[in-house]
Amino acid sequence: MKQALREKIASRSLRVAVIGLGYVGLPLATTFAEAGYDVTGIDVDQQKVDLANKGESYISDISSEVLQQLVDGGRLRFTTDFAALRDIDAVSICVPTPLRKTRDPDISYIISATQQVKDYLHEGQIIVLESTTYPGTTDEVLLPELEASGLVVGKDFFLAFSPERIDPGNPNFGTRNTPKVVGGITPDCTELAQAFYSVAIDTVIPVSSARVAEMTKLLENTFRAVNIGLVNEIAIICEKLDINVWEVIDAAATKPFGFMRFLPGPGLGGHCIPVDPHYLSWKLKTLDYTARFIELAAEVNSSMPHYVVNKINQALNEQKRSLNGSTILVLGIAYKKNVGDVRESPALEVVQELLDHKAIVLYNDDYVPSITLKGRTLHSQPLSSGLLQAADCVALITDHSYYDAPWIVNEARSVVDTRNMTRGIQESKLLRL
Ligand SMILES: NC(=O)c1ccc[n+]([C@@H]2O[C@H](COP(=O)([O-])OP(=O)(O)OC[C@H]3O[C@@H](n4cnc5c(N)ncnc54)[C@H](O)[C@@H]3O)[C@@H](O)[C@H]2O)c1
Repeated sequence: MKQALREKIASRSLRVAVIGLGYVGLPLATTFAEAGYDVTGIDVDQQKVDLANKGESYISDISSEVLQQLVDGGRLRFTTDFAALRDIDAVSICVPTPLRKTRDPDISYIISATQQVKDYLHEGQIIVLESTTYPGTTDEVLLPELEASGLVVGKDFFLAFSPERIDPGNPNFGTRNTPKVVGGITPDCTELAQAFYSVAIDTVIPVSSARVAEMTKLLENTFRAVNIGLVNEIAIICEKLDINVWEVIDAAATKPFGFMRFLPGPGLGGHCIPVDPHYLSWKLKTLDYTARFIELAAEVNSSMPHYVVNKINQALNEQKRSLNGSTILVLGIAYKKNVGDVRESPALEVVQELLDHKAIVLYNDDYVPSITLKGRTLHSQPLSSGLLQAADCVALITDHSYYDAPWIVNEARSVVDTRNMTRGIQESKLLRL
């Protein structure tokens, strides 16, 4: 079995399926197809499947031209029908892992995808979970479900976890050149999953178990969440001490070792950093342990949107105005630059709080045409001198390309800058984070 799979991998005759065609799955399916595998993308969203089959990309990192070529060449196809798994040798599962309202993990998408995989599980299949999740998910949730089919792991089929590290909008690192960690349930599972990925990914790092691979991803994202929390707190401390935090960070970053530059901001956003550490702390709660750093970082980071609103309030106060009735222009709604993803974006919380205080909120974000908050829909306004001058305060939230446009600050009446985008320009107008 193992040898047959190895031969299929070497000859690129391996038939691959990617389940879940979002920010992670569509680029992965494309990378597999570019590497020479025959690839089927499966999603429950008919609209995504239809677009992808027409070669129309809905993920900004994947060009429609590349997608079209692979689809036309017959190397890549998309379906909502899980029966396609019947003829598949290797499956990567890239479904969402959000939090419930209670901030507990919601692994229902993983469970549902696993049940579908189980229905078509057959001898000689490699199954890899990519969705970020708590340590133990692969062997405590997927393994029993898949073995209920009667097939045995490490003998009849091979199961592993390999965390996705994609950084949407990053021009230097994509799926292919971002090293990938793989940990299997048995040594053979690790070996085959490593061989499977090595065809499409430049560097694949095997680890001793799926749990180690799951924990590796959570360490990476907890590391970021905690360091962002620390630097956000340093920003608050610096304000109290009347010290410019940005100058402090720049100076500290001249140390060539032992310091890593993290920047303060309006809070955490995206599907990963605000969410993933809670998967870890939840798991620890089941073991009667409190993950203190995670809780503390979450407390500081989640207070930042409110801190930004306070800054806006301060800027208005200097003009003898109140939030109620003032016009606030928010620049940047996406959770980070150059993407249209608004999941968990702190800008949404800033906008909501401003609306709650009866401010008139306008926004510009070319990547986000509209947002709906508590039933109210706002549309991105074209950026112009008139728009800037109409605002009592401009809040720079996501950097996009505003950094390269000093006229924004020059034309605005007052600016709250959460990203230090406006260094050296009209200091008197600026309220920095
Ligand atoms: N977006 C990122 O930057 C990023 C980076 C690293 C890791 N991750 C992790 O990767 C996973 C996927 O994230 P994403 O951003 O691609 O999510 P996404 O929401 O963009 O895409 C997930 C896709 O899965 C589909 N789906 C849901 N249930 C399904 C099912 N049962 N069967 C088939 N398809 C199903 C959805 O329709 C959607 O198209 C998450 O666990 C996330 O934490 C994301």
